[in-house]
Amino acid sequence: MDIEDFNLDPSIAHLNHGSFGAVPHRVRERHEELRREAERNPDLFFATLPDRVAKARTEVAEFLGGDPDGTAFVSNVTEGIAVALHSIPLSPGDQILLCDHAYGAVDIAVRHAAARTGAEVVTITLPGRADGEWSGEDAAQAFLSAVTVRTKVAVFDHITSPTARLLPVEHMCREFAAAGVTTVVDGAHAPGMLDLDLTRVGADFYTGNLHKWLFTPHSAAVLAVSPAWRDRVVPLVPSFYLGDGFPRSLEIQGTRDHTPWLTAPYGIRLLTDLGARHVRTRNARLAARAQEILADLPMLTPWRADPELSMRVLRLPEGMATTYEESLTLSTEIYRRLNTRTAIRPWPGAGLLRLSAQLYNREKDYERLASGLSAILS
Ligand SMILES: Cc1ncc(COP(=O)(O)O)c(C=O)c1O
Repeated sequence: MDIEDFNLDPSIAHLNHGSFGAVPHRVRERHEELRREAERNPDLFFATLPDRVAKARTEVAEFLGGDPDGTAFVSNVTEGIAVALHSIPLSPGDQILLCDHAYGAVDIAVRHAAARTGAEVVTITLPGRADGEWSGEDAAQAFLSAVTVRTKVAVFDHITSPTARLLPVEHMCREFAAAGVTTVVDGAHAPGMLDLDLTRVGADFYTGNLHKWLFTPHSAAVLAVSPAWRDRVVPLVPSFYLGDGFPRSLEIQGTRDHTPWLTAPYGIRLLTDLGARHVRTRNARLAARAQEILADLPMLTPWRADPELSMRVLRLPEGMATTYEESLTLSTEIYRRLNTRTAIRPWPGAGLLRLSAQLYNREKDYERLASGLSAILS
């Protein structure tokens, strides 16, 4: 597939697929058909919607190795995390574990839940060196060794956002379960990018976006809940379907646009037709090559990444882009001068450049960035 197979502006080098994804025409056309169908006969469309959502959910859950009865559609991971934190009872003095690589909105949600309940947030600094050396085992150990008798919940990523690290979530969920700690996994980047098996991961709550790496239009994500928690899920929005319980009580909450969820199976079918393993290998190789191309610039330090990921990270020069404002200024300048969209994230010591690789990317996209970045950074 090429950039022409997407709606993307072909004059721009889009190196940040990880943030918002992109929808191929083949899937977008199905989405548009569904929207037209909803508008042509709204009464029929909404009457049959719950069953169609259930059917789409079954297909998505099975693709992700999950249980259709334990998986609900939500609009995005921000919502999935909020529902999980809303459903877990917390009391003053309880502790919630979180780490310093957590996504900003997730960090805010955890602090909000703590402020609401009187719980305490314990933020773990994941071990790792400034040159990007780190290990998943050390990260897991840092989390697990922070458990106390007061620890009630652990919130952690499958793939971290600013640093693109793959955490050993299966091991972590098992160990936390043995310690009586409820697990909430932020799998925003995992569906589509990884060969996910939700049942094997074994989280109490696992939420992942379909609109990043599964070719699905925006506002499509899942929240998978373990059998022990399903009856205790509390929707943020009470609706007609509240009494139906999970998953329907989360999915059908008044009149809104459910077509991205109904489109998700077409994203899966496209990925399957292209060969999911082939796509993942191709993107992971291109991401590694992208990192090599940028690492030719002496001012950038490539961070170690997991070979199977379609994202890579390089550290910017010392002291650069350490705040949100500076990161925004830098990415805006890169766009203005190089017509290239990048993810620059603030990080202590030096900001991070995260590169994504998707089917529409070619080596020349990263070469465009490499050719002009030195001048911008100096
Ligand atoms: C790790 C991680 N968690 C959560 C989110 C939030 O996803 P959404 O904006 O779809 O809610 C993102 C988005 O980039 C992310 O990277």
